[in-house]
Amino acid sequence: MNRELAEAARDLAAYLRSLDENLAEPPAGVKRTPAVAVPAVPEPAAGRPAPAAEAPKTMTLSPADMDQLAEKVKACRKCGLGHARLNAVFGVGSYKAKVVFVGEGPGFQEDHQGEPFVGRSGQLLDKILETVLGLKRSDVYIANIVKCHPMKNPESPESHGNDRPPTPEEISACRPYLDEQLRAIKPLCIVTLGSVATKVLLGTDKGISTVRGKVYDYPVELFGPGHPIKVIPTYHPAALLRNPNLKRDTWEDMKMLKAILDKGE
Ligand code: URA
Repeated sequence: MNRELAEAARDLAAYLRSLDENLAEPPAGVKRTPAVAVPAVPEPAAGRPAPAAEAPKTMTLSPADMDQLAEKVKACRKCGLGHARLNAVFGVGSYKAKVVFVGEGPGFQEDHQGEPFVGRSGQLLDKILETVLGLKRSDVYIANIVKCHPMKNPESPESHGNDRPPTPEEISACRPYLDEQLRAIKPLCIVTLGSVATKVLLGTDKGISTVRGKVYDYPVELFGPGHPIKVIPTYHPAALLRNPNLKRDTWEDMKMLKAILDKGE
């Protein structure tokens, strides 16, 4: 093994160990526990991205590293969501995808099936992929800002209507996992679905209707200078289900994505 490779492997091992240190077992004999205290992390300042995990830049991860990361997410108890969930929802799709779609967090269906966007929103997302982009869900990668279902009542994972947005602490606890996924996939483009994913990944406090319609650079340098990832914010499919008038703008956003994918750079 050459020196650079050995150093990269050491950095990766140290980084994965630092994630390990955050995995705490739930108290003995207790199935579901109240939220574990997570040190308060300040909200990202407007215009700044939420702090991402410190990991060596320019390093891409292999699919085997990604599988290892998925196992860590399944065992994660960094915040209370890890104790209440039925399944961690790591992500789905191709590790070679040119585009990664990022939603807010798993809902009831996703918690039950362990896969992102499998409910009504997911069916609409599949339709958008197919009709506008000519892609299947297995051609892209789909993930969420938080990997576990944020519930109003964590004691009731079997109840419908129990969804809530993730808190800033939950988002900060989960954020390193998404950047590791992006580091492994090295996509050309990220599509943020809805206000929560857009605010977190672009570090903005503006809502989706203000921000969408343009292409941005991902403000976290995952691969060093000269390798920006493009970000296209668009409406969450759930918003389109509530208000079909938003479909036209979403189609425009997807056409911008298609142009980037067709150009391939
Ligand atoms: N909404 C999201 O934001 N993510 C999912 O996985 C499902 C619904």
